Amino acid sequence: MKNITAVVLAAGKSKRMRSSTSKVLHKLQGKTVISYVYSSLKKAGVGKAVTVASIDNINGLKKEAEKVGIRSLFAIQKQQKGTSDAVRTAFKSAISLGNSIIVTSGDMPLVSNSTYKKLINKFYRTKADCTMLTGKMPEPYGYGRIIRSSNKIIDIREEKDLVQAERSIDEINAGVYVFKTSALKKFIKNIKNKNRQKEFYLTDIISLFVQNGQIVNSVTLQNFEELQGINTREDLRHLMSILWKWKNKELMVKGVTIEDPDTTYIDMDVVIGKDTVIKPFTVIESGTKVGSNCEIGPFSHIRNSAVIMDTAEVGNFVEVKKSIIKPGAKAKHLSYLGDSVVGKKANIGAGTITANFDGKNKFVTNIGDNCYIGSNTVLIAPVTLKKGVKTGSGTVVTRNQIIPQNSLIVGVPGKIIKKLK
Ligand code: UD1
Ligand code: CA
Repeated sequence: MKNITAVVLAAGKSKRMRSSTSKVLHKLQGKTVISYVYSSLKKAGVGKAVTVASIDNINGLKKEAEKVGIRSLFAIQKQQKGTSDAVRTAFKSAISLGNSIIVTSGDMPLVSNSTYKKLINKFYRTKADCTMLTGKMPEPYGYGRIIRSSNKIIDIREEKDLVQAERSIDEINAGVYVFKTSALKKFIKNIKNKNRQKEFYLTDIISLFVQNGQIVNSVTLQNFEELQGINTREDLRHLMSILWKWKNKELMVKGVTIEDPDTTYIDMDVVIGKDTVIKPFTVIESGTKVGSNCEIGPFSHIRNSAVIMDTAEVGNFVEVKKSIIKPGAKAKHLSYLGDSVVGKKANIGAGTITANFDGKNKFVTNIGDNCYIGSNTVLIAPVTLKKGVKTGSGTVVTRNQIIPQNSLIVGVPGKIIKKLK
Protein backbone atom coordinates (compact mmCIF):
# COMPACT_ATOMS: atom_id res chain seq x y z
CA MET A 1 0.00 0.00 0.00
CA LYS A 2 1.18 3.50 -0.80
CA ASN A 3 2.57 5.71 1.88
CA ILE A 4 -0.61 6.50 3.76
CA THR A 5 -1.05 7.43 7.41
CA ALA A 6 -4.15 6.63 9.42
CA VAL A 7 -5.70 9.16 11.74
CA VAL A 8 -7.63 7.16 14.31
CA LEU A 9 -10.15 9.17 16.28
CA ALA A 10 -10.50 7.86 19.79
CA ALA A 11 -10.70 10.82 22.15
CA GLY A 12 -14.47 10.91 22.56
CA LYS A 13 -15.96 10.95 26.04
CA SER A 14 -18.10 7.85 25.46
CA LYS A 15 -21.01 9.62 27.13
CA ARG A 16 -23.55 7.21 25.72
CA MET A 17 -21.72 4.20 27.25
CA ARG A 18 -22.05 5.63 30.76
CA SER A 19 -18.74 4.07 31.67
CA SER A 20 -15.60 5.16 33.42
CA THR A 21 -13.68 3.33 30.70
CA SER A 22 -13.37 4.81 27.22
CA LYS A 23 -15.61 2.86 24.82
CA VAL A 24 -12.69 1.98 22.55
CA LEU A 25 -11.07 0.13 25.46
CA HIS A 26 -14.14 -1.98 26.18
CA LYS A 27 -13.78 -5.65 25.34
CA LEU A 28 -15.31 -7.35 22.38
CA GLN A 29 -14.66 -11.10 22.54
CA GLY A 30 -11.71 -10.69 24.84
CA LYS A 31 -10.03 -7.98 22.75
CA THR A 32 -10.43 -4.24 22.97
CA VAL A 33 -12.57 -2.41 20.42
CA ILE A 34 -9.60 -0.31 19.26
CA SER A 35 -7.44 -3.39 18.67
CA TYR A 36 -9.80 -4.50 15.89
CA VAL A 37 -9.35 -1.14 14.17
CA TYR A 38 -5.56 -1.30 14.47
CA SER A 39 -5.46 -4.90 13.19
CA SER A 40 -7.59 -4.18 10.14
CA LEU A 41 -5.56 -1.10 9.25
CA LYS A 42 -2.35 -3.05 9.61
CA LYS A 43 -3.67 -5.91 7.47
CA ALA A 44 -4.74 -3.36 4.85
CA GLY A 45 -1.14 -2.24 4.63
CA VAL A 46 -1.46 0.94 6.66
CA GLY A 47 1.58 0.62 8.85
CA LYS A 48 1.54 3.95 10.64
CA ALA A 49 -1.03 5.99 12.45
CA VAL A 50 -1.69 9.00 14.58
CA THR A 51 -4.22 8.21 17.25
CA VAL A 52 -6.16 11.11 18.68
CA ALA A 53 -6.55 10.20 22.33
CA SER A 54 -7.77 11.79 25.53
CA ILE A 55 -5.76 12.19 28.70
CA ASP A 56 -7.81 9.36 30.20
CA ASN A 57 -7.30 6.70 27.56
CA ILE A 58 -3.89 7.47 26.04
CA ASN A 59 -2.02 4.90 28.13
CA GLY A 60 -4.52 2.17 27.37
CA LEU A 61 -4.42 3.00 23.67
CA LYS A 62 -0.62 2.94 23.56
CA LYS A 63 -0.61 -0.58 24.98
CA GLU A 64 -3.11 -1.74 22.40
CA ALA A 65 -1.16 -0.27 19.47
CA GLU A 66 1.94 -2.01 20.73
CA LYS A 67 0.16 -5.34 21.12
CA VAL A 68 -1.16 -5.22 17.57
CA GLY A 69 2.16 -4.00 16.25
CA ILE A 70 1.04 -0.86 14.45
CA ARG A 71 3.32 2.16 14.68
CA SER A 72 1.17 4.89 16.16
CA LEU A 73 1.96 8.29 17.49
CA PHE A 74 -0.47 9.91 19.86
CA ALA A 75 -1.99 13.37 19.92
CA ILE A 76 -4.00 14.44 22.93
CA GLN A 77 -7.24 16.29 22.32
CA LYS A 78 -7.79 18.21 25.53
CA GLN A 79 -11.41 19.15 24.98
CA GLN A 80 -13.74 17.00 22.94
CA LYS A 81 -15.05 19.61 20.53
CA GLY A 82 -16.00 17.23 17.74
CA THR A 83 -14.52 15.00 15.04
CA SER A 84 -13.15 17.88 12.96
CA ASP A 85 -11.37 19.33 15.97
CA ALA A 86 -9.97 15.84 16.59
CA VAL A 87 -8.47 15.71 13.09
CA ARG A 88 -6.99 19.18 13.56
CA THR A 89 -5.42 17.93 16.77
CA ALA A 90 -3.64 15.28 14.70
CA PHE A 91 -2.43 18.00 12.32
CA LYS A 92 -1.11 20.05 15.20
CA SER A 93 0.85 17.13 16.57
CA ALA A 94 3.87 18.22 14.49
CA ILE A 95 3.95 14.87 12.82
CA SER A 96 4.25 14.85 9.06
CA LEU A 97 1.18 13.01 7.82
CA GLY A 98 2.25 12.54 4.19
CA ASN A 99 0.23 13.25 1.04
CA SER A 100 -2.83 11.25 1.91
CA ILE A 101 -4.48 10.13 5.11
CA ILE A 102 -7.20 7.72 6.05
CA VAL A 103 -9.39 8.94 8.86
CA THR A 104 -11.25 6.32 10.83
CA SER A 105 -12.98 5.96 14.18
CA GLY A 106 -11.78 3.89 17.08
CA ASP A 107 -15.36 2.81 17.68
CA MET A 108 -15.85 1.03 14.32
CA PRO A 109 -14.25 -2.36 14.98
CA LEU A 110 -15.94 -4.39 12.26
CA VAL A 111 -14.66 -2.46 9.24
CA SER A 112 -12.54 -5.10 7.50
CA ASN A 113 -9.11 -4.77 6.01
CA SER A 114 -10.53 -5.47 2.55
CA THR A 115 -12.93 -2.55 2.94
CA TYR A 116 -10.06 -0.26 3.94
CA LYS A 117 -8.13 -1.51 0.91
CA LYS A 118 -11.06 -0.92 -1.43
CA LEU A 119 -11.43 2.62 -0.15
CA ILE A 120 -7.75 3.45 -0.51
CA ASN A 121 -7.55 1.89 -3.98
CA LYS A 122 -10.55 3.83 -5.23
CA PHE A 123 -9.11 7.06 -3.85
CA TYR A 124 -5.90 6.60 -5.83
CA ARG A 125 -7.59 5.17 -8.95
CA THR A 126 -10.03 8.05 -9.27
CA LYS A 127 -7.53 10.71 -8.13
CA ALA A 128 -10.15 11.96 -5.71
CA ASP A 129 -9.67 14.56 -3.00
CA CYS A 130 -11.89 12.51 -0.72
CA THR A 131 -13.17 8.96 -0.99
CA MET A 132 -15.55 8.13 1.79
CA LEU A 133 -17.13 4.92 3.01
CA THR A 134 -20.91 4.74 3.00
CA GLY A 135 -23.47 1.95 3.25
CA LYS A 136 -27.14 1.25 2.95
CA MET A 137 -28.66 0.61 6.33
CA PRO A 138 -32.29 -0.43 6.83
CA GLU A 139 -32.37 1.23 10.25
CA PRO A 140 -30.11 4.24 9.84
CA TYR A 141 -31.11 5.98 13.07
CA GLY A 142 -28.17 7.64 14.79
CA TYR A 143 -25.85 7.79 11.78
CA GLY A 144 -24.95 10.74 9.58
CA ARG A 145 -26.89 10.53 6.30
CA ILE A 146 -25.50 11.01 2.82
CA ILE A 147 -27.17 13.80 0.86
CA ARG A 148 -26.87 13.27 -2.88
CA SER A 149 -27.92 15.37 -5.84
CA SER A 150 -28.05 13.71 -9.27
CA ASN A 151 -26.33 10.79 -7.59
CA LYS A 152 -23.33 12.88 -6.48
CA ILE A 153 -22.54 13.30 -2.80
CA ILE A 154 -23.02 16.92 -1.77
CA ASP A 155 -23.29 16.81 2.01
CA ILE A 156 -23.54 14.69 5.17
CA ARG A 157 -26.20 15.48 7.73
CA GLU A 158 -26.00 14.31 11.33
CA GLU A 159 -29.04 12.59 12.85
CA LYS A 160 -29.75 15.47 15.21
CA ASP A 161 -29.69 18.02 12.37
CA LEU A 162 -31.90 16.10 9.92
CA VAL A 163 -35.02 17.73 8.59
CA GLN A 164 -38.11 15.55 8.30
CA ALA A 165 -37.70 14.75 4.59
CA GLU A 166 -34.15 13.52 5.17
CA ARG A 167 -34.99 11.03 7.89
CA SER A 168 -35.84 8.28 5.44
CA ILE A 169 -32.43 8.43 3.73
CA ASP A 170 -30.92 5.00 4.23
CA GLU A 171 -27.39 5.70 3.02
CA ILE A 172 -25.18 6.34 6.02
CA ASN A 173 -21.73 7.79 6.64
CA ALA A 174 -19.36 5.21 8.11
CA GLY A 175 -17.01 7.91 9.37
CA VAL A 176 -14.11 6.50 7.33
CA TYR A 177 -12.53 8.72 4.68
CA VAL A 178 -9.36 8.93 2.60
CA PHE A 179 -8.28 12.53 2.04
CA LYS A 180 -5.65 14.39 0.10
CA THR A 181 -3.89 15.91 3.08
CA SER A 182 -3.35 19.31 1.47
CA ALA A 183 -7.03 19.76 0.54
CA LEU A 184 -8.20 18.65 3.97
CA LYS A 185 -5.78 21.01 5.71
CA LYS A 186 -6.92 23.88 3.55
CA PHE A 187 -10.67 23.53 4.11
CA ILE A 188 -10.91 22.06 7.60
CA LYS A 189 -10.26 25.52 9.05
CA ASN A 190 -13.56 26.72 7.63
CA ILE A 191 -15.68 24.23 9.57
CA LYS A 192 -17.98 25.93 12.08
CA ASN A 193 -19.86 24.49 15.01
CA LYS A 194 -23.25 25.77 13.95
CA ASN A 195 -25.30 22.69 14.67
CA ARG A 196 -27.50 21.17 17.33
CA GLN A 197 -24.57 19.73 19.29
CA LYS A 198 -22.33 22.82 18.96
CA GLU A 199 -19.53 20.54 17.82
CA PHE A 200 -17.04 20.86 14.99
CA TYR A 201 -18.16 18.09 12.65
CA LEU A 202 -15.68 16.53 10.25
CA THR A 203 -18.69 15.65 8.13
CA ASP A 204 -19.03 19.33 7.15
CA ILE A 205 -15.84 18.97 5.12
CA ILE A 206 -17.83 17.27 2.38
CA SER A 207 -20.00 20.24 1.43
CA LEU A 208 -16.95 22.51 1.65
CA PHE A 209 -15.08 20.22 -0.73
CA VAL A 210 -18.01 20.07 -3.14
CA GLN A 211 -18.50 23.85 -3.13
CA ASN A 212 -14.82 24.32 -3.91
CA GLY A 213 -14.68 21.88 -6.79
CA GLN A 214 -12.79 19.11 -5.00
CA ILE A 215 -13.54 15.57 -6.15
CA VAL A 216 -15.61 13.58 -3.62
CA ASN A 217 -16.72 10.01 -4.23
CA SER A 218 -17.49 6.92 -2.22
CA VAL A 219 -17.26 3.20 -1.79
CA THR A 220 -20.78 2.14 -0.88
CA LEU A 221 -21.23 -1.19 0.85
CA GLN A 222 -24.43 -3.16 0.40
CA ASN A 223 -23.63 -5.26 3.45
CA PHE A 224 -23.99 -2.76 6.25
CA GLU A 225 -23.00 -5.01 9.15
CA GLU A 226 -19.37 -3.90 9.02
CA LEU A 227 -20.32 -0.29 9.35
CA GLN A 228 -21.98 -0.51 12.71
CA GLY A 229 -20.21 1.36 15.44
CA ILE A 230 -20.30 1.32 19.21
CA ASN A 231 -21.88 4.22 21.02
CA THR A 232 -23.90 2.39 23.67
CA ARG A 233 -23.77 -0.87 25.65
CA GLU A 234 -26.51 -2.18 23.41
CA ASP A 235 -24.31 -1.51 20.37
CA LEU A 236 -21.47 -3.41 22.07
CA ARG A 237 -23.71 -6.40 22.65
CA HIS A 238 -25.04 -6.18 19.12
CA LEU A 239 -21.54 -6.24 17.64
CA MET A 240 -20.64 -9.25 19.76
CA SER A 241 -23.63 -11.10 18.38
CA ILE A 242 -22.60 -10.20 14.82
CA LEU A 243 -19.08 -11.55 15.40
CA TRP A 244 -20.43 -14.80 16.84
CA LYS A 245 -22.80 -15.15 13.91
CA TRP A 246 -19.96 -14.59 11.40
CA LYS A 247 -17.77 -17.09 13.24
CA ASN A 248 -20.39 -19.84 13.31
CA LYS A 249 -20.98 -19.37 9.62
CA GLU A 250 -17.27 -19.47 8.81
CA LEU A 251 -16.81 -22.66 10.84
CA MET A 252 -19.77 -24.39 9.25
CA VAL A 253 -18.39 -23.54 5.80
CA LYS A 254 -15.08 -25.10 6.87
CA GLY A 255 -16.72 -28.36 7.96
CA VAL A 256 -17.62 -27.96 11.61
CA THR A 257 -21.10 -29.01 12.75
CA ILE A 258 -22.73 -26.44 14.98
CA GLU A 259 -26.00 -27.85 16.18
CA ASP A 260 -27.47 -24.61 17.45
CA PRO A 261 -25.70 -21.43 16.32
CA ASP A 262 -28.13 -19.35 18.39
CA THR A 263 -26.64 -20.65 21.65
CA THR A 264 -23.04 -21.19 20.56
CA TYR A 265 -20.48 -18.50 21.31
CA ILE A 266 -17.16 -19.00 19.58
CA ASP A 267 -14.73 -16.06 19.45
CA MET A 268 -13.33 -14.93 16.10
CA ASP A 269 -9.76 -16.21 16.46
CA VAL A 270 -10.64 -19.72 17.65
CA VAL A 271 -9.44 -22.51 15.37
CA ILE A 272 -11.59 -25.65 15.07
CA GLY A 273 -10.86 -28.69 12.90
CA LYS A 274 -13.08 -30.52 10.45
CA ASP A 275 -15.91 -32.82 11.52
CA THR A 276 -15.94 -31.59 15.05
CA VAL A 277 -19.44 -31.34 16.48
CA ILE A 278 -20.33 -28.40 18.73
CA LYS A 279 -23.44 -29.01 20.78
CA PRO A 280 -25.69 -26.23 22.14
CA PHE A 281 -24.88 -23.75 24.92
CA THR A 282 -21.15 -23.81 24.41
CA VAL A 283 -18.68 -20.98 24.93
CA ILE A 284 -15.26 -21.21 23.27
CA GLU A 285 -13.18 -18.14 24.03
CA SER A 286 -10.48 -16.23 22.21
CA GLY A 287 -7.05 -17.86 22.06
CA THR A 288 -8.20 -21.50 22.23
CA LYS A 289 -7.98 -24.36 19.72
CA VAL A 290 -10.11 -27.41 19.06
CA GLY A 291 -8.95 -30.24 16.78
CA SER A 292 -10.92 -32.29 14.30
CA ASN A 293 -13.47 -35.01 15.06
CA CYS A 294 -14.00 -33.70 18.57
CA GLU A 295 -17.29 -33.46 20.39
CA ILE A 296 -17.80 -30.34 22.48
CA GLY A 297 -20.83 -29.54 24.60
CA PRO A 298 -23.61 -29.23 25.42
CA PHE A 299 -22.77 -26.61 28.08
CA SER A 300 -18.98 -26.57 27.75
CA HIS A 301 -16.73 -23.63 28.50
CA ILE A 302 -13.29 -23.59 26.88
CA ARG A 303 -11.01 -20.65 27.62
CA ASN A 304 -7.57 -19.14 28.19
CA SER A 305 -5.31 -20.89 25.64
CA ALA A 306 -6.93 -24.30 26.12
CA VAL A 307 -6.16 -26.82 23.39
CA ILE A 308 -8.51 -29.72 22.72
CA MET A 309 -6.76 -32.16 20.41
CA ASP A 310 -8.29 -34.38 17.70
CA THR A 311 -11.04 -36.81 18.74
CA ALA A 312 -11.17 -35.58 22.34
CA GLU A 313 -14.56 -35.08 23.95
CA VAL A 314 -15.61 -32.36 26.38
CA GLY A 315 -19.15 -32.51 27.61
CA ASN A 316 -21.82 -31.22 29.95
CA PHE A 317 -20.75 -28.51 32.39
CA VAL A 318 -17.05 -29.00 31.81
CA GLU A 319 -14.76 -25.98 32.02
CA VAL A 320 -11.34 -26.28 30.42
CA LYS A 321 -8.88 -23.51 31.20
CA LYS A 322 -5.27 -23.29 29.94
CA SER A 323 -5.08 -27.04 29.55
CA ILE A 324 -4.16 -29.52 26.85
CA ILE A 325 -6.59 -32.34 26.31
CA LYS A 326 -4.79 -34.92 24.20
CA PRO A 327 -6.34 -37.06 21.42
CA GLY A 328 -9.08 -39.40 22.46
CA ALA A 329 -9.32 -38.11 26.03
CA LYS A 330 -12.79 -37.64 27.44
CA ALA A 331 -14.18 -35.33 30.10
CA LYS A 332 -17.88 -35.66 29.66
CA HIS A 333 -19.51 -34.33 32.81
CA LEU A 334 -19.19 -31.68 35.51
CA SER A 335 -15.45 -31.05 35.63
CA TYR A 336 -12.95 -28.25 36.04
CA LEU A 337 -9.68 -28.84 34.24
CA GLY A 338 -7.34 -25.90 34.82
CA ASP A 339 -3.59 -25.65 34.12
CA SER A 340 -3.51 -29.33 33.29
CA VAL A 341 -2.38 -31.82 30.70
CA VAL A 342 -4.74 -34.70 30.11
CA GLY A 343 -3.05 -37.63 28.35
CA LYS A 344 -4.21 -39.59 25.34
CA LYS A 345 -7.38 -41.61 25.85
CA ALA A 346 -7.56 -40.65 29.50
CA ASN A 347 -11.05 -40.74 30.95
CA ILE A 348 -12.01 -38.01 33.36
CA GLY A 349 -14.91 -39.15 35.53
CA ALA A 350 -17.88 -36.96 36.36
CA GLY A 351 -17.14 -34.31 38.96
CA THR A 352 -13.35 -34.43 38.66
CA ILE A 353 -11.69 -31.21 39.74
CA THR A 354 -8.14 -30.02 39.34
CA ALA A 355 -7.55 -27.86 42.39
CA ASN A 356 -5.03 -25.59 40.71
CA PHE A 357 -5.05 -22.55 42.97
CA ASP A 358 -3.79 -22.32 46.54
CA GLY A 359 -5.09 -18.80 47.06
CA LYS A 360 -1.88 -17.24 45.75
CA ASN A 361 -0.45 -19.25 42.88
CA LYS A 362 -1.62 -21.60 40.14
CA PHE A 363 -0.13 -25.08 39.77
CA VAL A 364 -0.08 -27.73 37.08
CA THR A 365 -1.78 -31.13 37.05
CA ASN A 366 -0.35 -33.83 34.78
CA ILE A 367 -2.60 -36.74 33.95
CA GLY A 368 -0.85 -39.44 31.91
CA ASP A 369 -2.09 -41.36 28.89
CA ASN A 370 -4.87 -43.87 29.53
CA CYS A 371 -5.49 -42.72 33.10
CA TYR A 372 -8.91 -43.47 34.48
CA ILE A 373 -10.04 -40.84 36.95
CA GLY A 374 -12.94 -41.96 39.10
CA SER A 375 -15.96 -39.73 39.70
CA ASN A 376 -15.48 -36.85 42.10
CA THR A 377 -11.70 -37.12 42.22
CA VAL A 378 -9.92 -34.00 43.41
CA LEU A 379 -6.39 -33.56 42.11
CA ILE A 380 -4.55 -31.00 44.21
CA ALA A 381 -1.87 -29.39 42.07
CA PRO A 382 1.02 -29.60 41.59
CA VAL A 383 0.49 -33.29 41.04
CA THR A 384 1.44 -35.88 38.44
CA LEU A 385 -0.33 -39.11 37.60
CA LYS A 386 1.83 -41.29 35.40
CA LYS A 387 0.40 -43.44 32.58
CA GLY A 388 -2.50 -45.74 33.35
CA VAL A 389 -3.18 -44.54 36.88
CA LYS A 390 -6.66 -45.26 38.17
CA THR A 391 -8.34 -43.33 40.99
CA GLY A 392 -11.33 -44.58 42.91
CA SER A 393 -14.40 -42.36 43.20
CA GLY A 394 -14.03 -39.55 45.67
CA THR A 395 -10.25 -39.83 45.86
CA VAL A 396 -8.37 -36.76 46.96
CA VAL A 397 -4.85 -36.83 45.54
CA THR A 398 -2.81 -34.38 47.60
CA ARG A 399 -0.19 -31.99 46.25
CA ASN A 400 3.44 -32.62 45.34
CA GLN A 401 2.90 -36.29 44.57
CA ILE A 402 3.99 -38.33 41.58
CA ILE A 403 1.74 -41.36 41.34
CA PRO A 404 3.63 -44.19 39.63
CA GLN A 405 2.46 -45.77 36.41
CA ASN A 406 -0.50 -48.16 36.49
CA SER A 407 -1.22 -47.76 40.19
CA LEU A 408 -4.62 -47.60 41.80
CA ILE A 409 -5.11 -44.83 44.30
CA VAL A 410 -8.14 -44.45 46.58
CA GLY A 411 -9.26 -42.65 49.69
CA VAL A 412 -9.61 -39.27 51.25
CA PRO A 413 -6.85 -37.77 53.36
CA GLY A 414 -9.17 -35.11 54.78
CA LYS A 415 -7.56 -34.75 58.19
CA ILE A 416 -6.56 -31.43 59.78
CA ILE A 417 -2.87 -30.87 59.24
CA LYS A 418 -2.36 -27.39 60.68
CA LYS A 419 -4.13 -24.27 61.86
CA LEU A 420 -4.25 -21.48 59.27
CA LYS A 421 -4.47 -18.62 61.76
C1 UD1 B 1 -19.79 9.97 13.50
C2 UD1 B 1 -20.13 10.82 12.25
C3 UD1 B 1 -21.40 10.25 11.62
C4 UD1 B 1 -21.20 8.79 11.28
C5 UD1 B 1 -20.75 7.99 12.51
C6 UD1 B 1 -20.34 6.60 12.08
C7 UD1 B 1 -19.38 13.10 12.77
C8 UD1 B 1 -19.80 14.46 13.17
N1 UD1 B 1 -20.34 12.19 12.66
O1 UD1 B 1 -20.87 10.15 14.42
O2 UD1 B 1 -21.70 10.98 10.44
O3 UD1 B 1 -22.41 8.26 10.77
O4 UD1 B 1 -19.60 8.62 13.13
O5 UD1 B 1 -20.05 5.82 13.18
O6 UD1 B 1 -18.20 12.88 12.54
N2 UD1 B 1 -14.02 11.74 18.71
C9 UD1 B 1 -12.87 12.41 19.11
N3 UD1 B 1 -12.97 13.69 19.52
C10 UD1 B 1 -14.14 14.37 19.54
C11 UD1 B 1 -15.31 13.69 19.13
C12 UD1 B 1 -15.21 12.39 18.72
O7 UD1 B 1 -11.78 11.85 19.10
O8 UD1 B 1 -14.13 15.55 19.92
C13 UD1 B 1 -13.90 10.34 18.27
C14 UD1 B 1 -14.73 9.39 19.12
O9 UD1 B 1 -13.96 8.84 20.16
C15 UD1 B 1 -15.14 8.33 18.12
C16 UD1 B 1 -15.12 9.04 16.77
O10 UD1 B 1 -14.40 10.23 16.97
O11 UD1 B 1 -14.23 7.24 18.09
C17 UD1 B 1 -16.52 9.37 16.28
O12 UD1 B 1 -17.19 10.16 17.25
P1 UD1 B 1 -18.66 9.84 17.74
O13 UD1 B 1 -19.02 10.84 18.77
O14 UD1 B 1 -18.81 8.42 18.07
O15 UD1 B 1 -19.45 10.20 16.40
P2 UD1 B 1 -20.85 9.65 15.95
O16 UD1 B 1 -21.91 10.38 16.65
O17 UD1 B 1 -20.89 8.19 16.00
CA1 CA C 1 -19.61 6.61 16.86
